[in-house]
Amino acid sequence: MKWFPMMLLALALAPLGVSAADAPVAPNGIALFGDYRSWEVIAPSYREDKNHIRVVLGNPAAVKAMRAKVRPMPDGAVLAKVAWTVRKHPDFPVATVPDSFAQVEFMVKDTAKYKDTGGWGFARFVGNSYKPYGKDAGFVMECFGCHTPVKGNDYLFTGYAQVP
Ligand code: HEC
Repeated sequence: MKWFPMMLLALALAPLGVSAADAPVAPNGIALFGDYRSWEVIAPSYREDKNHIRVVLGNPAAVKAMRAKVRPMPDGAVLAKVAWTVRKHPDFPVATVPDSFAQVEFMVKDTAKYKDTGGWGFARFVGNSYKPYGKDAGFVMECFGCHTPVKGNDYLFTGYAQVP
């Protein structure tokens, strides 16, 4: 009955949108984390030049480290940044809300594997087809370069949005 555990796995992954088997893979080998939509919110942000609403999410290891302000983050921490274009809410135009999905990006902490880029592996998946970004694995230098000014914060821009 070898298929039985596989079937359970498929059932467990089914509600998450993307199954592990058909997850798109970035040129550096990082696959889309199919369950990112259920991760906890670290902070929202808004980027004026791109006119995007973003939400930074973390897996449990990343959220724990964010809450406790632990830097550098431990291996296994993964951050996701989801971006949407914006529109005015049709029933309440002073409210600006997400429109269409633009992209999702990930930063994956593995000190040994990604030692050349501050211990972080980078990946970006664009549009509704989750098209992997980058012609080859060298695309990460673009990510790493822009994140280098915040090296003192373990290359992270975002902090935990506080509530009382
Ligand atoms: C031009 C600068 C720039 C480039 C290039 C860039 N980022 Fe970022 N990134 C930012 C800024 C600024 C933030 C803070 C949140 C925001 O953008 O709203 C951020 C946030 C993030 C976060 C959330 C964690 C954090 O640091 O706040 C992830 C994950 C992320 N970026 C992944 C990537 C990946 C993957 C790439 C490359 C494919 C990339 N970034 C390229 C500027 C950049």
